[in-house]
Amino acid sequence: MIVFENLTKVYGTITAVDNLNFEIGKGEFFGLLGPNGAGKTTTIRMLNTLTAPTSGSILIDGRKMDRNVTEVKAKIGVVSQHLNLEGEMTAWQNLELHGFLYGLKKDIRRKRIEELLEFTGLSDRAKEMVRTFSGGMKRKLMIARALMHEPEILLMDEPTVGLDPAVRRKMWDLMKGLNKNGLTVVLTTHYIEEAEILCSRVGLMNSGKLIELDTPQKLIKKNGEFVLEYFENGETRSRFFNTRQEAIDSAAGMDGSVNIRPANLEDTFIKLTNRKVEN
Ligand SMILES: Nc1ncnc2c1ncn2[C@@H]1O[C@H](COP(=O)(O)OP(=O)(O)O)[C@@H](O)[C@H]1O
Ligand SMILES: [Mg+2]
Repeated sequence: MIVFENLTKVYGTITAVDNLNFEIGKGEFFGLLGPNGAGKTTTIRMLNTLTAPTSGSILIDGRKMDRNVTEVKAKIGVVSQHLNLEGEMTAWQNLELHGFLYGLKKDIRRKRIEELLEFTGLSDRAKEMVRTFSGGMKRKLMIARALMHEPEILLMDEPTVGLDPAVRRKMWDLMKGLNKNGLTVVLTTHYIEEAEILCSRVGLMNSGKLIELDTPQKLIKKNGEFVLEYFENGETRSRFFNTRQEAIDSAAGMDGSVNIRPANLEDTFIKLTNRKVEN
């Protein structure tokens, strides 16, 4: 269980993370959503002890996160937003190095590497230099590396950025499989569709603050399950309704083309973040 208590990070005049208070349960697939600059990466970096909170704290299974507490750190695996593999080493060597740094014995390292290359579909590329890999293969290798020391929590910061749709879907299956096997997954993304498909609960962040926290279904329901879209003064506008009939009634007096459809999490997200921006 991960508990955020008044977690805050200030950089000069910017409050990157502003007083987070929430919990992520064991075995959850949790999504941290928000536009660029919302504070997602800073939150992940504090979870991973790469940066210390300005105030507040993070507790994992009741113990306060601190870069000196190796026992808590070993529970976490991280796939950072930035690609940080060793390009001049093979896939195997990248995993070997990570296992070595985490103090895994040689035979255990070999076994884990074989399993994880198999799991990520990279077995036949094991002996190739990572610089020759595609973006998708590098992401998969980063996931394999994060899992080498058998963490209980996997943090993934925008793991599917820049991947083509087919590869992204394969990554989703990979992540789903991990969570099914009991791993707690914390994913940040600005692809809202991805979170809607994968996450059991999502937290919406904007300007460092958590503005909503619930299941995707409940968030959609709360903000209106049907959208009426219309074009006015050069822009597409939306209105939200609880039922399709209410949307139809509202559209009755409109001229020009209108579109009524079920709302998705992205609609909800845009509605909520815009509202906050306008305020
Ligand atoms: N090391 C840093 N120094 C100064 N400002 C930072 C630093 N890291 C992040 N920020 C600022 O904090 C805010 C949140 O950034 P970040 O956590 O990277 O957001 P996200 O990952 O949601 O895009 C942004 O305004 C960003 O410019
Ligand atoms: Mg980020």
